[in-house]
Amino acid sequence: MKKIVVFLVVLSFFSVSYAVDAKKGDINKGKQLYREVCRSCHDGSKAKKVTPMHKTTAQWKKLFDNDMARLKEKHEGNDAFNKIKAEDFDHIYRFVLDGALDSEQPQTCD
Ligand code: HEC
Repeated sequence: MKKIVVFLVVLSFFSVSYAVDAKKGDINKGKQLYREVCRSCHDGSKAKKVTPMHKTTAQWKKLFDNDMARLKEKHEGNDAFNKIKAEDFDHIYRFVLDGALDSEQPQTCD
């Protein structure tokens, strides 16, 4: 019984610590990741052009809410997207919020 409790505590710790969190993110790392990874498709070649300022803060939040449910849904079966590390999404999330359409400095990422 004790072992099960310990296991559950450890499990919940991990699932909490891996939830995407923009506050833990670094804007510069996010910008670099966005340029290298997201933009490789979202420059209008393999997918439509998407930069931070293509969406408002509320729209980005909707995509990243609930463990990125909507963002994951849009990239189902997409290997390049699935390879992105959980902690890298903290940086990317921070970067897109920082450069959203209604932010102080909307970013094009070009
Ligand atoms: C391997 C290519 C690829 C990569 C890498 C990729 N995406 Fe996508 N993304 C797509 C495709 C394909 C769609 C769905 C079709 C579309 O919207 O053009 C999509 C959809 C989206 C949408 C929804 C578009 C909309 O306006 O509804 C957003 C937002 C988005 N991606 C953001 C990102 C972000 C942020 C990253 C980096 C973390 C990323 N994508 C990485 C291919 C990719």
